[in-house]
Amino acid sequence: MKRVAILISGGGSNMVALAQSMTGDHPARPVLVLSNDPKAGGLARARDMGLAVAAVDHKEFPSDRRGFEGELLAILEAAQPDIICFAGFMRVLGAGFVQRFEGRMLNIHPSLLPKYKGLHTHRRALDAGDTVHGCTVHEVTAALDDGPILGQARLDIGPEDTADTLAARLLPLEHALYPAVLRRFARGDRTPVLIP
Ligand code: GRF
Repeated sequence: MKRVAILISGGGSNMVALAQSMTGDHPARPVLVLSNDPKAGGLARARDMGLAVAAVDHKEFPSDRRGFEGELLAILEAAQPDIICFAGFMRVLGAGFVQRFEGRMLNIHPSLLPKYKGLHTHRRALDAGDTVHGCTVHEVTAALDDGPILGQARLDIGPEDTADTLAARLLPLEHALYPAVLRRFARGDRTPVLIP
């Protein structure tokens, strides 16, 4: 059975979808939900699900990234995850951290990578006049939002769509895609999941 740590910064809806999917014949189980914000709404949801939680407040390390990552690493080492899932984790981690877990880290990004790496993806897709948008699960490498793609889900952009409506319409697709990719990845299968 693979051990999965989930890193979050916010409400944690992807974390909930991942944790709820890891039951029955699923080859993995959640062992930790870790946040850079002790007040993240997702931590309370994880506690309610009976999951182990921890937080390292990045604000306590204003210009000390090494210190912040050292604390994260110590907590992760203790949890011994086989796989790390970034689910709305909004801190960029350094090459040393990435190297430590390379090949065992996944992230979900709200665009059809390689388009729109970084922030404000919905706004940028609308501004570009795109007709299709989506989300991507990829392996985490040292380059931001750049690793091998393990899954994508698509939706059509409507004439009435705004950045907010796109974000809201995309979330249920994220909650379907990420667990499907994790189930395959935990079995050692990197064949991309495509929705539809
Ligand atoms: C999601 O849209 C995800 O794609 C992005 O951050 C958002 C997190 O949402 N990286 P939640 O905290 O999982 O609800």
